[in-house]
Amino acid sequence: MIPHGGAPAGARADFSTNLNALGPPGFLLRALRQAPLGRYPDPEYAELRALLGETARVVVGAGASELIHRLVAAFGGPVAVFCPGFGEYAYAARVRGVEVIVARDEEAFVQAMRRSAIGFLASPNNPDGRVFGVDFLKAAVGAGGLLVLDLAYAPLSEVPVFVPEGAVRLHSPNKAFALPGVRAGYAVFPEPALARRVRALAPSWVLSSTGEAFLRLASAEEARTWLSVTRPRLFAWRRALAKGLSRLGFRVVEGRANFLMARIGEGRIAALREAGVWVRSLSDKGMQGWARLSAQGPKRRRMLWEVLGG
Ligand SMILES: Cc1ncc(COP(=O)(O)O)c(C=O)c1O
Repeated sequence: MIPHGGAPAGARADFSTNLNALGPPGFLLRALRQAPLGRYPDPEYAELRALLGETARVVVGAGASELIHRLVAAFGGPVAVFCPGFGEYAYAARVRGVEVIVARDEEAFVQAMRRSAIGFLASPNNPDGRVFGVDFLKAAVGAGGLLVLDLAYAPLSEVPVFVPEGAVRLHSPNKAFALPGVRAGYAVFPEPALARRVRALAPSWVLSSTGEAFLRLASAEEARTWLSVTRPRLFAWRRALAKGLSRLGFRVVEGRANFLMARIGEGRIAALREAGVWVRSLSDKGMQGWARLSAQGPKRRRMLWEVLGG
């Protein structure tokens, strides 16, 4: 296991995950309770896959993390990763004894892709919220290895997210709808042959009936409308958070998603936790004193200011 965000049940405020703070929507929760749990799902998930893209190019899984591990198992290494980035990519490589090439800037990532079987990038990136540009992504996809573009936060991006042709698209709609307990995700491959390699490694019924219902409902009109209503509020909350933290003299990296990074110091991270306010320390990524905080409403921000002195 590696560190991830998430607060215990008794926490007063949770800034530590990047879930949409306005969710989950009631209509989705109600619909998920109707999932047919009394029978096995279709082992091919044929209807769902047809809904999510061209059937032969779609692979469903029990969340993006499960698919990340399967991708590494299918394509091997070396594995190129961007730093700072989501830790599960390197972890999936490490547990298989596969070499990891860590790139600390875009040029280094393109170089790393030349020597890699597979490379992972999230856009927007976790933890800094950056959205990668067209030229860089085209260079990365053409460099050699298979590029997996992790679109976990694309539905929560303030700007359009470019996806180059030839990349694998990895989707995890649970962030946008604040339903991380429903373990469901999917990947769309540029070619059916690549998808087959990853599908072949799944156990039977890898996706629960609830997960299947979630992926179907998350791509429906009602869900898309709900999301589009929440997004401007989340971005306004992120800006208010950035302004408050900057005013207190902390260095802030804002990015374009529903979260930001700030250097508030290890002591304050601990003091916040003591007060039941959880932020994601980035010390495990070599960023001592830095924390990642998601956009939250005014009531929760006040809890933050109580401890930080704003
Ligand atoms: C960039 C990124 N990708 C994937 C995941 C995990 O997604 P899932 O919950 O579908 O496993 C996370 C969760 O923090 C993430 O930040």
